[in-house]
Amino acid sequence: MANFKDIKGFIFDLDGVITLTSKYHGQAWHQLADELGVTWTKALADGLKGISRMDSLEMILKAGNKENDYTEEEKIRFAAKKNDNYLTLIGKMTDEDILPGIPAFLKDLAAHNYKICLASASKNSPIILEKLDLVKYFPIVVDPSKLKKGKPDPEIYVRGAELLHLKPEECIGIEDAAAGIQAINGAGETSIGIGDATELSAADIRFARTTDMTLVNIEAAMKINA
Ligand code: BG6
Ligand code: MG
Repeated sequence: MANFKDIKGFIFDLDGVITLTSKYHGQAWHQLADELGVTWTKALADGLKGISRMDSLEMILKAGNKENDYTEEEKIRFAAKKNDNYLTLIGKMTDEDILPGIPAFLKDLAAHNYKICLASASKNSPIILEKLDLVKYFPIVVDPSKLKKGKPDPEIYVRGAELLHLKPEECIGIEDAAAGIQAINGAGETSIGIGDATELSAADIRFARTTDMTLVNIEAAMKINA
């Protein structure tokens, strides 16, 4: 693992790290899975976290052995329907929906002159940053529509470091999903997982809650694991 003193930037996932939109993505996919007659399981729900919209749809169809049942146009319609449901679910979000500890952590990073960027697979992330009043912390956002491959491919985290003008070993990536941790590790950055120990076993550092993610705790964890 890198040395804490070499770290110059933090690359954030959005859904499930900064706010619980992960729950709304899950609900909207669950509804579509029901409509398509695909059994919804916890394993399917966990596996979808961090995965792009069209890749998520493919995973759901595959789980129901329906991957060859629909045309491209039908699939695009299903994905658009899921997104409409999702936009309804996030409609009333405000800055009160930011996870606890995140505003203080962002303030601390800014006060210590760390560079910050967003590496979310979601095309909705600009709207969510607006709703949460966090645009000021994230002037730099990786555009997922410009990427060739989604998480777990490292491309989004490689791009994040490039946009910050940092080397991968100078960056920490923060994720709530196994696919995201795989992407950070593949990019050669230090990974922080927020959430379940089993799901995030590949993370360099893990915190159960966002309130545990402080610079002091990160420095301590990097020393212990060094
Ligand atoms: C990720 C979420 O951040 O974005 C996934 O974890 C979601 O659940 C993906 O499918 C794509 O989001 P969107 O908003 O572009 O459909
Ligand atoms: Mg996430």
